[in-house]
Amino acid sequence: MSKTTTPASVFRKCYEWEDAARAREAGIYPFFRPIEEARGSKVIIEGRELIMAGSNNYLGLATDPRMRDRAIKAVEHYGTSCSGSRFMNGTLALHEELEVRLAAFVGKEAALCFTTGYQTNLGSIAALVGRGDHIISDKFNHASIMDGIFLTVGLNRNVNVHRYKHNNMEDLERILAKIPIEESKLIVTDGVFSMEGDIVDLPSVRALADKYNAAVYLDEAHAIGVVGPTGRGVTEHFHDPSLADLVMCTFSKSFGSIGGFVAGDELVIDYIKHFARPLIFSASIPPANLGAAMAALEIIEQEPERVERLQEIAEKMIKGFGDLGFDVGTAETPIVPLVIGDNEKTFTFWKHMFERGVYVNPVISPAVPPNRALIRTSYMAIHEDHELDTILEIAADEGKKLGII
Ligand SMILES: Cc1ncc(COP(=O)(O)O)c(C=O)c1O
Repeated sequence: MSKTTTPASVFRKCYEWEDAARAREAGIYPFFRPIEEARGSKVIIEGRELIMAGSNNYLGLATDPRMRDRAIKAVEHYGTSCSGSRFMNGTLALHEELEVRLAAFVGKEAALCFTTGYQTNLGSIAALVGRGDHIISDKFNHASIMDGIFLTVGLNRNVNVHRYKHNNMEDLERILAKIPIEESKLIVTDGVFSMEGDIVDLPSVRALADKYNAAVYLDEAHAIGVVGPTGRGVTEHFHDPSLADLVMCTFSKSFGSIGGFVAGDELVIDYIKHFARPLIFSASIPPANLGAAMAALEIIEQEPERVERLQEIAEKMIKGFGDLGFDVGTAETPIVPLVIGDNEKTFTFWKHMFERGVYVNPVISPAVPPNRALIRTSYMAIHEDHELDTILEIAADEGKKLGII
């Protein structure tokens, strides 16, 4: 549409919205930057090589040749698409094989794969929580959990939604204690929180769930491959797979692919399979991504030293930034936030890091609470020590210039 004609009213806001344009003009717009090439721990953007300290490819598997090979083999065997939903023509033998192996990996009876982690949360939560039920969610949970709640509320009248203060067991108990014991309750929490890099107090969540007759749904998107001695996530970190009734994870992070799964008791998974709309009304994970996810699972099982290295890097970076005077919040994992507070300062810091060859992500409200703008740094098992030292040096320099430290 030319600018001289009047846009339909539904589009008026698009023509009037200027935030992104202003940030672009000021040269501090950080989003949608195309990566021209991925080279392990480095990326090429605008023709320049940067150290990637902003990816969720925690184990560095997305560029591993074994992953590429398995993806290619799956395409050669099955083609490029399943051309249908799991419910109909879109279930491959490879989906089912992967599900059996994932269930065993997380210590559950059964698993079910969705096309993305986002859909896994939407589908599983909305399938389970119905009329009159209660869903109780940590305030820092990922947006896909919130959207799962929105879908649940949209599909069922009288769903009761409660949000408790982040990882705050008193607040969780305050909410649980008010709900009649016989009413159905699902507590939903991230295992590792995606912006703050801290770990849920899962043993306490489990104890409260048992006391108040609730079930526990655990989002392990940033935990599998990352925490626990062999990378099996937060339940392994606390040495007990029964701490969560249901575990979900995505393939878009440690697994270096795309897709997601939920795992739990066989009958619960079978129910989700028949009632999850995002599973039934969307095409299934394509063969290439299934092949890659399967290869990743095998590598995680066979090479626990990758997880160990990642944990060693996390410790180094949390201590490194902390010693420099950055506010790293309650980080315990390779997600290390640098909390700045002010949006503009956060974007400026991001820009200086970018110009000096370090890729990190600026995060502002609503992804974090207002006035808690932060730089989300995240690390991969394939980072070398000299790269980590360079990141710390540049951050120290730029942090001092901007009065952040
Ligand atoms: C905690 C958490 N859950 C779920 C998802 C959704 O996963 P996916 O990107 O595979 O859709 C994400 C992705 O960022 C996440 O961080």
